[in-house]
Amino acid sequence: MGSREEKVRPIVFSGAQPTGQLTLGNYLGALSHWVAMQEDHDALFCVVDLHALTIRQEPEVLREQVLSLAALFLACGIDPEKSTVFVQSHVPAHAELAWLLSTFTQMGELERMTQFKDKALRHRQNVNAGLFTYPVLMAADILLYGTHRVPVGEDQKQHLELARDVALRFNNLYGPTFEIPEPFISKGGARVKDLQEPTKKMSKTAESELARVMLLDDAQAIMKKFKKAVTDSLAHIADDESGQPGVTNLLNIWGAATGRSMEEALAHFSHNQYGKLKVETAEAVIAILEPIGRRYRELNTDRSYLWEVLQAGAAKARERAEGMMVRVMDRIGLPLERQRFRG
Ligand code: TRP
Repeated sequence: MGSREEKVRPIVFSGAQPTGQLTLGNYLGALSHWVAMQEDHDALFCVVDLHALTIRQEPEVLREQVLSLAALFLACGIDPEKSTVFVQSHVPAHAELAWLLSTFTQMGELERMTQFKDKALRHRQNVNAGLFTYPVLMAADILLYGTHRVPVGEDQKQHLELARDVALRFNNLYGPTFEIPEPFISKGGARVKDLQEPTKKMSKTAESELARVMLLDDAQAIMKKFKKAVTDSLAHIADDESGQPGVTNLLNIWGAATGRSMEEALAHFSHNQYGKLKVETAEAVIAILEPIGRRYRELNTDRSYLWEVLQAGAAKARERAEGMMVRVMDRIGLPLERQRFRG
C-alpha cells in the first residue's frame, strides 16, 4: 500500500461570529490568512452562530447574518473545494462536546478570562451562563477536529490557552485523545487599528463610522475614511507605533494590502506627505475590497448555491466530529448507542 504518497496536511480550524459586519481588520488580520492556509492545510472554517447567542440576537437578523457571513467567507476566497465551510449549529457535536468539556474546566479558569470580564461589564443586564462558558464551546470547536493550528487574534489567545489546558487535562486522565492545538500567528500579520483612535484595535463596535472600514464599504466610503484618518502633526513618515500610531497603522495597512513589508512601505513613502500615504493606502484597500464586494453580492443572491455549500460542509464536519465524540464518550464511560455511531 505504501506506494501512494498521501501527504498528511496539518489541520486548521477557525471561526467567526455572525454578528455585525466584518471590518478590514477582520480581513487583513484573519480571513486573508485563512485563504492562504487552505492551500497547504486540511482546513475547516466555521460560522459560529452558537457563540453569537451569548448576546441577545434578533432571530431574523441572526438567520440572515449566518448566511451572509458564509457568503463573505466564499467571497474572500475560501474555496469549498479545498476547505470545509460550515455553520456551527449544523453540527450538534459542538454543543455536546462543550458540555462534556465543561466538566473538565474549573470555574476559576473561566473567571480569569479577560473577555468575559469585559463583556460582563458591557452587558450587565444579561450576564448569562453561556457568556461565562463561551471559551469551553470554543475549545470544543477546536478539539473536535484534532486541530493542529488555530489562527487567532491577540484577543483570543487566552481562550486558546484554555483549550490547550483542558485538552491536556483530559489526555492526562484518559490517555491521548485530543491534539493539543497551537495558536497560529501570521508573520507580518497586520494588526489593523482604529482610524480615529489608532492606539485601539479596529473593531466592529467602535462608535464612529469613520473609525473602521467595513469589508463591504464602497470605494467612495473607503477613500473618505482614509482621508479622515487621524495622524499627527510631526509631518514625518516613520514606523513608530507609540509615537506615531496613526501613521504606523496606515503603513501597516498599505503593506498588508499590497503584500509589502514595513521596510518596503517606509522606502516607498519616506519622502511623501501624509496625504499621499492616505490616498495610496485607500487605493490599495479598494483594490482588494472591490472584487470581494462584487463576489459577495453575486453569492448572496444565489442562496441555493450557498445552502449547497453549507450542507456539504456540515455533512463532512459531522462525520469527522462524530468520530471524535465516539472516542471521547467511550473514554469517559458513556455507553455508546450503536445506531447513532454506526459507520
Ligand atoms: N471566539 C472567536 C472570536 O470571537 C470565534 C471562535 C469561536 C473561534 N470558536 C472558534 C475562533 C474556534 C477560532 C477557533 O473571534
